[in-house]
Amino acid sequence: MERSFTEARQMLIFRGIAEVLNRSFTLREALDGALHRIVELLDVQAGWIFLYDQETREFRLAADVNLPGALAAAGKRRMTGDCRCNQLLREGRLTEAVNLIPCARLEQALPETPELHRHASVPLIAQDETVGILNLLLPHGRAFNADELAMLESIGHELAVTIQRARLFDAVRNQEHVRRELMQRLLVAQEEERRRIAQDFHDHSGQIVTALIIQLDQLAADVGSKNKQLAADLRRVRGLADQFLDDLRKLIYDLRPPVLDDLGLVPAVRWYVDSYVRPAGLDVELQVDDLGGRLPQDLETVAFRIFQEAVTNVLRHARASRIEIRVSRKGEWLIVMVRDNGVGFDPDGGPESQDRRTLGLHGMRERAQLVDGSVQILSANGVGTTILARLPLPVLDSATPAQ
Ligand SMILES: Nc1ncnc2c1ncn2[C@@H]1O[C@H](COP(=O)(O)OP(=O)(O)OP(=O)(O)O)[C@@H](O)[C@H]1O
Ligand SMILES: [Mg+2]
Repeated sequence: MERSFTEARQMLIFRGIAEVLNRSFTLREALDGALHRIVELLDVQAGWIFLYDQETREFRLAADVNLPGALAAAGKRRMTGDCRCNQLLREGRLTEAVNLIPCARLEQALPETPELHRHASVPLIAQDETVGILNLLLPHGRAFNADELAMLESIGHELAVTIQRARLFDAVRNQEHVRRELMQRLLVAQEEERRRIAQDFHDHSGQIVTALIIQLDQLAADVGSKNKQLAADLRRVRGLADQFLDDLRKLIYDLRPPVLDDLGLVPAVRWYVDSYVRPAGLDVELQVDDLGGRLPQDLETVAFRIFQEAVTNVLRHARASRIEIRVSRKGEWLIVMVRDNGVGFDPDGGPESQDRRTLGLHGMRERAQLVDGSVQILSANGVGTTILARLPLPVLDSATPAQ
């Protein structure tokens, strides 16, 4: 009877602590909450948790409850640096919950009360990894019995799993942060490279072909009366050079439309539609709002590149007869929408589409994320495709007077 009562009580304590761990949002909250419960439910005077860093082999105080005044004083200075329990844990000699570990910290802090110079310790271990230690200061004369120690070990394991999970989560978040930063640099570098190549083509190749055209014109004029056949051939070659210059201009504009840098997003969209979409024979509905001036350069670039990829996809894949393009401002959002009435596709794709190394749709999403926006791809076979980008506009400083 006595035994089952103890077991039931321990089960309740354990459940209560597991609950705290599960519902906490941060590691700090989880450790604080669990430690408060342990101190309260196990009749303990004080408690603290050190986290262990495997790489630096150092301990850091992560939570504490009812620390004796002398340990809490001076910003908890006495809680830094090594103590016996830390050393035992580091050396792998503390593998289970124990009742009494002599503590130099307590000895120094409470010289008047030698009965409080020891604490119980519970190693926090999960999957053979030691992640910290839970120390509990018991009232004089109190010691945990074997059942309580076993329960504390289980609690220690739960705490260790929570700590491991939080560290993993942090690591993933850091990786995501690094990935985003790399992607951002890559895209900025890509834009710069495109700008440089466009400039080179314009300044060098463009000039050479222009000079070639002028010289061909002159030659054709010079030989025109003497050799009609040669003049006709020269004009034909000039026609080819003209065509090449046109293609080169398109390439330059495609690489980095000067109109985007010089005049901004809306004129760049209009120019692109006139140059590429209308000539392709599509019925175009273009609706662009006045965005109230220029937007930050990276936002204009992201918006334009998403628009450009969406339109290119329509021309390449959709077999559409109609395209609807919108660039508008909705509250604090810049909306870019490209909708076609073409063949559509399955945006989630089957396993075979996951393998394909296409970058367009992926790149749209990446670019949008870089400015904290998003891209929605709505499509189904036979019903056309809508690409909807939502990009946050810069927050206007209310203190700045309206222009
Ligand atoms: N508007 C659209 N209509 C029909 N199918 C589309 C449309 N947009 C995309 N798709 C389909 O989705 C696929 C992936 O598009 P995505 O832009 O990622 O790659 P891509 O255009 O094939 O190559 P790239 O990497 O050069 O952009 C396309 O190959 C096409 O099958
Ligand atoms: Mg594409």
